[in-house]
Amino acid sequence: MNAVFNPSALSSSLKESLEEIGKAKTSQDLEAARSKYFGSQGIFSLASKSIGSLDKDKRKEAGEFFGKCKKEFDSAFLKKKEEVEAEEERGRLRAETVDMTLPFTRFPMGSLHPITLVKREMEHFFTSLGWSLGDGPEVEHAWYNFDALNFPPDHPARQMQDTFYMAPQDCNLVLRTQTSSTQVREMISSPLPLYTASIGRVFRSDPLDAFHSPVFHQCEGLAVDEGLSVADLKGVLKALVSSLFGGGKVRLRPSYFPFTQPSFEMDMLLEGSGKWVELAGAGMVHPNVLKSAGVDPEKYTGFAFGIGIERVAMLKYGIKDMHDLVEGDVRFSHQFAMGD
Ligand code: PHE
Repeated sequence: MNAVFNPSALSSSLKESLEEIGKAKTSQDLEAARSKYFGSQGIFSLASKSIGSLDKDKRKEAGEFFGKCKKEFDSAFLKKKEEVEAEEERGRLRAETVDMTLPFTRFPMGSLHPITLVKREMEHFFTSLGWSLGDGPEVEHAWYNFDALNFPPDHPARQMQDTFYMAPQDCNLVLRTQTSSTQVREMISSPLPLYTASIGRVFRSDPLDAFHSPVFHQCEGLAVDEGLSVADLKGVLKALVSSLFGGGKVRLRPSYFPFTQPSFEMDMLLEGSGKWVELAGAGMVHPNVLKSAGVDPEKYTGFAFGIGIERVAMLKYGIKDMHDLVEGDVRFSHQFAMGD
């Protein structure tokens, strides 16, 4: 850079610098001009350093000239800076403007799944009868899922429910195939008399199709008291069906479960079509099951029932295909209830 103090060169630099300031559109443009002319390596800064090497009589004049240039530059710079910053602020405000008159996008609402709706209704039904609610583990010891429920080791009934066994084979853990696994747990851990319901997931190695799913939900009801009979069982089932479906006839058909004696299937009469549909397994708790839990079968009797929640949801809401229940599309759930 020119280290010699040359007023005429500086005058034309000043003119150039003022033109650059005039053209500046942004704070960055302004800053670039400032650094080009008055930054540490700028033309004017270098020239001002050379003042000291001038003859004494020239120094004052050069100093004054430099001061005048700087003053002119600074005042043009500051004036333009105000304009540019005001314009930049206007631009920012424009960009942030919210048009209050535009139609708004609703925040997408979730929705309760029909399984949750049925589950809540059932919980409400049982608690309003004064029953307790319980649950057990999904990974269950085979003893609770089978042995304590009177399934002898080689009994073909074990094959009634296609079981997922946990590895290693001798750990004796299964994914519970039924919520009946909670029966003995409840009897062991609660004082008698006992009125309890548990709703939870169960697992069977069925492929997913329109009516089956390898993971589904059951509600298990269990009552243990003195003098309970099939009449009590039927009364509770009838009340449950009418609370879920707003009425409806039920019937008990003889059936077989290792843990109940006698055992039944409970059917419900479908409104309109006159068809009976199977809704639940049920029965009087087998004395061996009471004994497994340390309950005296001479003194106490019990009844139990297990209802498939998916089945209830499908009948209640007219759902035709299990896939709809498991796919988790919120548009499907929206049809039954908005989130609450
Ligand atoms: N656990 C049985 C099933 O999954 C249903 C059931 C429960 C039957 C309680 C009788 C008593 O098929």
